Amino acid sequence: MSSSSDSIPTHIAIIMDGNGRWAQQRGLPRLKGHEAGAETVRHVMRYCRAAGVRYLTLYAFSSENWARPPLEVLGLMSLLKSFLRDNEAEFHENQVRLRVIGRRSDLESSIVRELERVERATAAYTAGQLILALSYSGRGELVQAARAMAEKVRRGELRPDRIDETVFAAHLYAPDVPDPDLIVRTSGEMRISNFLLWQCSYSEFYVTPVLWPEFREPDFRAALEAYQQRQRRYGRVADKV
Ligand code: IPE
Ligand code: IPE
Ligand code: MG
Repeated sequence: MSSSSDSIPTHIAIIMDGNGRWAQQRGLPRLKGHEAGAETVRHVMRYCRAAGVRYLTLYAFSSENWARPPLEVLGLMSLLKSFLRDNEAEFHENQVRLRVIGRRSDLESSIVRELERVERATAAYTAGQLILALSYSGRGELVQAARAMAEKVRRGELRPDRIDETVFAAHLYAPDVPDPDLIVRTSGEMRISNFLLWQCSYSEFYVTPVLWPEFREPDFRAALEAYQQRQRRYGRVADKV
C-alpha cells in the first residue's frame, strides 16, 4: 500500500558517523570524538522516547572497524562498557529493552557477559527497544542466516523448497524487530557501509552533513520532517491526493 509517512517512524536506525572528523577539527585524539558521540547517544534515546519512536538501532561498531588502530578499538570497547554502566538505570526507568545484533563472539568475554546481563534484565520491557549493532556486518548476518538454515536442512528440520522471505527473515539476528522505516547517516557520507542489508530494502534514507557528536534535537526533528515528506510507494503507484 502506498502508505503516506506523515507519521512517526516506528523504527529508526542510525549510522553514527563523523566522530573522528569532529575530533580532528578540534585537534583532539579520535577517541575524544567517540566520547562525545556516546553523549549524543544519550540525547538521541531521549528524542526517540519523546517522539514515540519505539525501536532505535545504532550502528556502533562494524565488523570492518576491527581493522582500525588497536588503541582506537580498545578505546571504543571501553566506551561501550561505560555506556552500559551509565545508562542501565535509564533503561529500567523507561522500560527500554536492550538488544545486541552482530557477531557477539568477536567481543571480549567480559563485555559479552555485561551485555547479556543487561539484555536479560531488560528482556520483558515493552516501552521501547535500543538495538546496538556491534561487530555487525550486513553480509555477515545474511551468511549466518544461510548457515543456520543449511544446518536445519541437514538435520531434516527444514525443506529447501520451504525457504522463502519469511523463513529467511526468521533467521536474522532480531527477527521480531520491524524493518527500519528511516535510516539516518550523519557526516554526509552517502553509503550503507554494510548496515542492515536485508532490512533496508524499503527504508527511507536521510543523510545529514552534521557530525554525530553535534547531532541534536533540531537535527533529529529535521530528519523526522524529511521522513514525513516522503511518499513510500513500495513499488506501487502513488495514491491520488
Ligand atoms: C563513527 O565515527 C564511529 C565508528 C565507526 C565507531 P568515525 O570514527 O567513523 O568518524 P570519521 O568517519 O572518522 O569521522
Ligand atoms: C560505519 O562507519 C560504521 C559505524 C558507524 C559503526 P564507518 O566510518 O566505519 O564507515 P566507512 O568506512 O566510512 O564506510
Ligand atoms: Mg566514519
